[in-house]
Amino acid sequence: VKSPVTVLVTGAAGQIGYAIVPMIARGIMLGPDQPVILHLLDIEPAAESLNGVKMELVDAAFPLLKGVVATTDVVEACKGVNVAVMVGGFPRKEGMERKDVMSKNVSIYKAQASALEKYAAEDCKVLVVANPANTNALILKEFAPSIPEKNITCLTRLDHNRALGQISERLKEHVSDVKNAIIWGNHSSTQYPDVNHATVTTSSGETPVRKLVADDQWLNTEFITTVQQRGAAIIKARKLSSALSAASAACDHMRDWVLGTPKGTWVSMGVYSDGSYGIQPGLIYSFPVTCEKGQWSIVQGLKIDEFSRAKMDATAKELIDEKSLAYSCLD
Ligand code: NAI
Repeated sequence: VKSPVTVLVTGAAGQIGYAIVPMIARGIMLGPDQPVILHLLDIEPAAESLNGVKMELVDAAFPLLKGVVATTDVVEACKGVNVAVMVGGFPRKEGMERKDVMSKNVSIYKAQASALEKYAAEDCKVLVVANPANTNALILKEFAPSIPEKNITCLTRLDHNRALGQISERLKEHVSDVKNAIIWGNHSSTQYPDVNHATVTTSSGETPVRKLVADDQWLNTEFITTVQQRGAAIIKARKLSSALSAASAACDHMRDWVLGTPKGTWVSMGVYSDGSYGIQPGLIYSFPVTCEKGQWSIVQGLKIDEFSRAKMDATAKELIDEKSLAYSCLD
């Protein structure tokens, strides 16, 4: 039997928290033979509700769940953590300036970075879900210098899965036969969903999406905006933001990172740029990656056309602006 892995979920009393904890406890994130201990963190006003989540986890009698700590103490929450899923954050409220929201999140991520730095297990893997996800991850990286930068990532897998979903719907092929879409850049509406290298497996083998869809106009316009604005469409329909799909994508992200991507398949992850594809080093930017033995690497050598180049640069530019806004909040 494997020894348990300790998984931190921050913002655990929230919507995504409520959807993701049973997934983790059922082995969807780390595998069906991997016992887990859950550390749930939220803030004081949500303490009672957080305790209710803990009660339900007990009531669900999950065989893989070896312990639950529900706390509002960030130190207790971060102790011995192997995997940290950072869902907690300050939401943008009506009438709030961008800088005010940024400032709240910078101070949250700075404090939580310091706690992870001091108390998490060595080689802790971090996934930031809370928005602005890329920049929160960057702040976390800055204030947790002893955590290797390769261990700090943000979620763009939901956008990646949305891109696969749109292609699947359009072609009426099952989504599991569609692969190798790419989300470049920021988890925001400037992200660039790119299907230039994506394929669909049909009875005649692996075929490029561009060939099967044929309608370049759709791929270059509506497909891109649908993926970029899917979050807003869900809010409009549900009056709440995506939660089950976000939780599921966070499990996909972590599972593939830890257990590896299938041969010939890549996924999108927000990772620390090393300058690949001309993206400024020092940004957390979403790239296509493959994973093996718990390590991701950026897929190299993909041909980038002019159309893509412009969109990849535009989303990088937004991240550069966010980074300087975030730094201005530190003063
Ligand atoms: P929610 O508002 O339902 O839950 C957030 C929880 O975080 C609340 O329980 C709140 O009390 C808690 N929280 C606030 N500050 C905290 C702190 N300092 N420490 C610990 N917990 C804290 O929000 P929801 O729907 O669960 O979304 C969570 C975040 O994920 C939001 O920032 C949202 O924008 C983001 N998101 C990101 C996606 C992605 O693809 N990267 C997709 C969907 C949502």
